[in-house]
Amino acid sequence: MLSVDQSSQKPVSNTDISALLDFWTPLLTRLCVERGVFDAYGDEWRYDDDVARSLEVNADVLRRIVRALSSRDVFEENAEGAHRLTPLGRVLIPGPGPLAGVSGFTSWDLHAWAEAEHTLLTGEAGFHHHYGTDYFTWLSDHKEAFAQFSEAMKQRTHNLLVSGISAYPWPSAGTVVDVGGGSGYLLSAVLRERPSLRGILFDLPAALADAEEYYESCGLTDRVTIAPGDVFDGVPPGAEIYVLASVLHDWSDDDATRILRTCRKSMTPSSTLVAYETVLGEGPESAMYYGLDLHLAILVNGRERTRPEWSSLFGRAGLRLTKVISTPGLSWLEAVLAE
Ligand SMILES: C[S@@+](CC[C@H](N)C(=O)[O-])C[C@H]1O[C@@H](n2cnc3c(N)ncnc32)[C@H](O)[C@@H]1O
Repeated sequence: MLSVDQSSQKPVSNTDISALLDFWTPLLTRLCVERGVFDAYGDEWRYDDDVARSLEVNADVLRRIVRALSSRDVFEENAEGAHRLTPLGRVLIPGPGPLAGVSGFTSWDLHAWAEAEHTLLTGEAGFHHHYGTDYFTWLSDHKEAFAQFSEAMKQRTHNLLVSGISAYPWPSAGTVVDVGGGSGYLLSAVLRERPSLRGILFDLPAALADAEEYYESCGLTDRVTIAPGDVFDGVPPGAEIYVLASVLHDWSDDDATRILRTCRKSMTPSSTLVAYETVLGEGPESAMYYGLDLHLAILVNGRERTRPEWSSLFGRAGLRLTKVISTPGLSWLEAVLAE
C-alpha cells in the first residue's frame, strides 16, 4: 500500500473543484473574444443592454454571460448596474496582448475536442475522427477557416517573437527558407533584422493566399520568393537556414522525422535548421504548454517535446541538435547535418 504524507494533504475547497471541472469559463471567454464583447466594453463602464444593441446579440443572454464572467473576476459592476472590464478582463481585448491569437473560438477545434475520448482510447487525433480527414487538408478545403487560422498564428507569432528574433544569430547574407511559414510574419521579421538576407516562404498553396499582398505591404516583395508546396515532398534546396516555427509540434514523431529528413535532403553541409518551439518542462511559462500538448494531440496528432525528445527527434532524421536559445516566447533549437 502507498503511504501518504499527511503534511502534504491540503483541504480541498469548492473553488479548487470548480477550477478542475469548469469548462464554461474558457468557452464563454472565447465566445466573447470572437463576438467582440470585450472590445465593446473597452475601458468604459457600459450597460449590458447598450452593448447587446451595438453588437446585435441577445440582451438577456449577454447579461447572463457578463454575470457569469463577473464571478470569474473578468467584469466588475457599479452602483448603477453598469459593467466594465477588470484588469484581468482587459487582457482579453483583442490586439497584441499576451493572449493574442490564442483566445479565438472555432467550431472545428470544439468538434475535435468533443472527440477527446477517441484520442484517449486510440492516440489518434479527435479532429480526424470527426471530420474524416486531417486538420491541414480540411483547412485547405475551407479557405475562410484557413485564413482565420493563419491570422491567429500571425498574432501568436507576433506576440511570441517580441524579443525572440534578435536572440538568434541570423547570417548576414544568403537565403532563409521559412518552412510552413504561414502568414509570412516571421520571415518578414528576420529580413528586417538582416537587410542583405533573402527569403523563401514555403507552405501549402492555400496557406499562401495573402502572402504576396502581405510582402507588398511590408516593402519586401523583391527579397521574398513565395513557394507553394508540401513539406513531405521536398523543400527548396541549398539555403543557409531552414526555419520551422511551430511546425514540428503539429506532427507525431514519425511524421516530424519525415519532415526533418526532407529538409535534410535539401541542406548543404553549411546549412543550419532552426526550429522555433517550446522546450517542455523548461522556462517559467512551461506549465501552459502541457495543455497545448493535448490540444495538439486532439487536433493534429502532434505533441510538445522535452529537450531529450527534441534531441532524439533530430537524431532520427540524421541531424544533430547543436544549440538551444531560450527566449521569453519560445526557444530556437538549432541543428546541423549529423555527419
Ligand atoms: C502552426 S502553423 C505555424 C505557422 C508559422 N510558422 C508561424 O509560426 O506563425 C503550421 C504551418 O504549417 C503549415 N503546413 C501544414 N502542413 C504542411 C505541409 N504538408 N507542407 C507545408 N506546410 C504545411 C500550415 O499551413 C501552417 O502554416
